[in-house]
Amino acid sequence: MRRYHLTTFGCQMNSHDSERIKGMLESLGLGEATSKEDADLVVFNTCTIREKPDTKLSAYLGDAGARKRENPDLVIAVGGCFAEAQQERIFDLYPQVDVAFGPGSIPHLGDWVGVGGEGVARGRFGTHEHFAGHLPPHRERAAHAWVQVSMGCNSTCSYCIVPAVRGREQSRRPGDIIAEVTRLAFDGVREITLLGQNVNSWGRDLSPDIRTEFGELLRACDAVDGIERIRFTSPHPKDFREPVIAAMAECDAVCEHIHLPLQSGSTRILKAMRRTYSRERYLTLAARLREAIPDLALGTDVIVGFPGETEADFAETLEVVEGVRYDSAFTFIYSPRRGTDAAVMADQIPEPLKHERLERLVEVVQRIAAEKNAERVGNIEQVLVEGPSRTDPTLLRGRTRRNTTVLFPGVGEAGNLVDVTIEGSTSTTLRGSIASAVPA
Ligand code: 5AD
Ligand code: SF4
Repeated sequence: MRRYHLTTFGCQMNSHDSERIKGMLESLGLGEATSKEDADLVVFNTCTIREKPDTKLSAYLGDAGARKRENPDLVIAVGGCFAEAQQERIFDLYPQVDVAFGPGSIPHLGDWVGVGGEGVARGRFGTHEHFAGHLPPHRERAAHAWVQVSMGCNSTCSYCIVPAVRGREQSRRPGDIIAEVTRLAFDGVREITLLGQNVNSWGRDLSPDIRTEFGELLRACDAVDGIERIRFTSPHPKDFREPVIAAMAECDAVCEHIHLPLQSGSTRILKAMRRTYSRERYLTLAARLREAIPDLALGTDVIVGFPGETEADFAETLEVVEGVRYDSAFTFIYSPRRGTDAAVMADQIPEPLKHERLERLVEVVQRIAAEKNAERVGNIEQVLVEGPSRTDPTLLRGRTRRNTTVLFPGVGEAGNLVDVTIEGSTSTTLRGSIASAVPA
């Protein structure tokens, strides 16, 4: 049997695309290799949002190229956002690559890697013709599934390469989404995460006969029997409207957890980023969400070192992070991307200063996350079991509705909902012991 190995970079959308890639290769009769060394086909599903994943890919492709010199039958395929962004140059940059394909071309992958009977093709890009929802996914977590609701992005954030790579926003039809969610529930999935580059603008581009909006989609998912938890990522603050807040507050299955990217706490920088909201508007939204959804966990993304960011701008970001008290935050150093407006802006910030700001930000983020997790000690939290802990098989790992990882002694199956008494915490995890099983 031919065997494949897949390496994934980047965001949840890419992880989900990887499940489709795996599912598709397996449906064509390939098995999953335990390591790259054992594979006849190595696939890299790439990300290009910052420079770091590009550099990592380069090292991986160097290794794969060396193996190909020993075994010329090895097929090397590069998919995802880096491939799409570099489509004109990829075979010059990396002559060892046999096949390259963009995120919109996954449904055709089997034809190009020589398992569809046609031999190995070179490159396929930009063909976002339909959602890959019909491909059988290979899910990594038994009780959790990603559900793609849209692709592409119509925003024009000046730092971001994604709109150039993933194209204009296209909403998936509501009937197709609900059919997939229903199928997943039937297969034992308890928790879904709705995925879109700008998930809460979903629906606006649908044809008039089926046009609806994101709040209605949340309500329709909530009505599917067996789905106990619903999350979504990522919403854009500019598109977070009252009907979505109402749906979140009223639907039992929608979790008390929102990832709400801030990017910067300075209105001046937000303007240069073309985020189209001010610091004040963001803060008003965060307060409104907390008022409507009790015990809400808020996460965020923050970029430091955007061109022109002064010490005063950065201090405003720290102030917002202190003020909102995020439960979690992903922090990034601004990375210029070819073809974006910000990459050619004057006043790029020197690397050492960017690093210094990142360190100061991370310190605040971690302190607050640790404090917020410590506040949970003594509570009983509902935990969805994901499986054994990765480091200690006597412990189970699961997640609270607020999306915090919990470790606790016990045996049990993925998909069980258990009540856990929280007894300890760090900035990233909670520890506890089973209080009682929640009746199904
Ligand atoms: N540099 C640094 N961070 C970036 N992000 C997007 N583009 C860039 C860039 N050029 C961050 C944003 C986004 C997250 C997915 O990645 O914070 O929300
Ligand atoms: Fe995801 Fe963006 Fe990276 Fe593509 S470039 S994998 S959309 S984070």
